[in-house]
Amino acid sequence: MSQIKIACLPGDGVGPEVYHSVKALLQAVNHKFSRAIELTEYLIGGAAIDACGQPLPAETLQACKNADAVFLGAVGGPRWDDPSLAVRPEQGLLQLRKSLEVYANIRPLTAYSSLLDASPLKQNIIENVDFVIVRELTGGLYFGRKTRTSDYATDECRYSVDEIQRIAHVACETAMQRKRVLTSVDKANVLETSRLWREVVSAYVEQNFPEIKLNHQLVDSCAMKLISSPREFDVILTENMFGDILSDEASVLSGSMGLLASASIGERHALFEPIHGSAPDIAGQGVVNPIAAILSAAMMLRWLKLFDEADSIEKAVRATIDARILTPDLNSNQRYLTQDVTRAVIERL
Ligand code: IPM
Ligand code: MG
Repeated sequence: MSQIKIACLPGDGVGPEVYHSVKALLQAVNHKFSRAIELTEYLIGGAAIDACGQPLPAETLQACKNADAVFLGAVGGPRWDDPSLAVRPEQGLLQLRKSLEVYANIRPLTAYSSLLDASPLKQNIIENVDFVIVRELTGGLYFGRKTRTSDYATDECRYSVDEIQRIAHVACETAMQRKRVLTSVDKANVLETSRLWREVVSAYVEQNFPEIKLNHQLVDSCAMKLISSPREFDVILTENMFGDILSDEASVLSGSMGLLASASIGERHALFEPIHGSAPDIAGQGVVNPIAAILSAAMMLRWLKLFDEADSIEKAVRATIDARILTPDLNSNQRYLTQDVTRAVIERL
């Protein structure tokens, strides 16, 4: 039984609460599957700013680099929103993504049939929706040069051919395991980076994955289609900023942000986090939906090649949802707490 080391970064807001669920879940996995998954906690985000003045302490980064995988809860909150502060919690997460070079952010979206009533959209639109957003995570506007004077500010958007090719490769591999249909999203009618994106993606798919049907779509039209005809999508490939926005929009299809997991993968490292963020409005109340974090942990186990463990977690989540053991974000009459849902998933493992 070889030991698996996970660096855990609970972070801020609801981050520690969902991490608590994941910890209980992974302890149950160790027990049930005779595994030795070892969790060690480190500071990040606002919690790290409070403790040592910086959002990504050197000790945390080193531990993440030495670990087999990294699990993160969430960062940020109103306490650290003051524009006069030199550092922000989010910088910790961005530095971590960049330092680990986890350039491919995978965000799967499924509309669970027993939750169709939880979405504000009509059931006939969201039935059978199932797609994956592949978001470029270490380039574009997020990491370009920034300038600021008293009169103006700039954020540079840069993409290189290499950066586009490596994320296109991940999207193609994902499409090959699914329906072999890929939608690349850009703003090529306006942006130069998007024109390069479109050219590089077209050539890459044609040369390396001729069996994939590739469509290009402008980001504004994609935003509209995501909620008017979401079944049209299977794998969506897009750059950092567009992927950030479209994935929050897409979460409405599933009924709650509290369901959406993500994996950020690079050549050497991988980071797993729920997409919901720190949700300061509900932090500390014990009502945050732990499913996004639990499904992120399942993605982590699959990446670590613990396939049976990952499958069991996903099945247990589905059974818990079907039994309507749901937190309040899912609009149900039953108002279960984070710990009830966590316990229900563990019982069904
Ligand atoms: C996300 C989040 C982050 C992002 C923030 C917290 C920096 O919104 O993971 O989608 O913008 O990438
Ligand atoms: Mg976001």
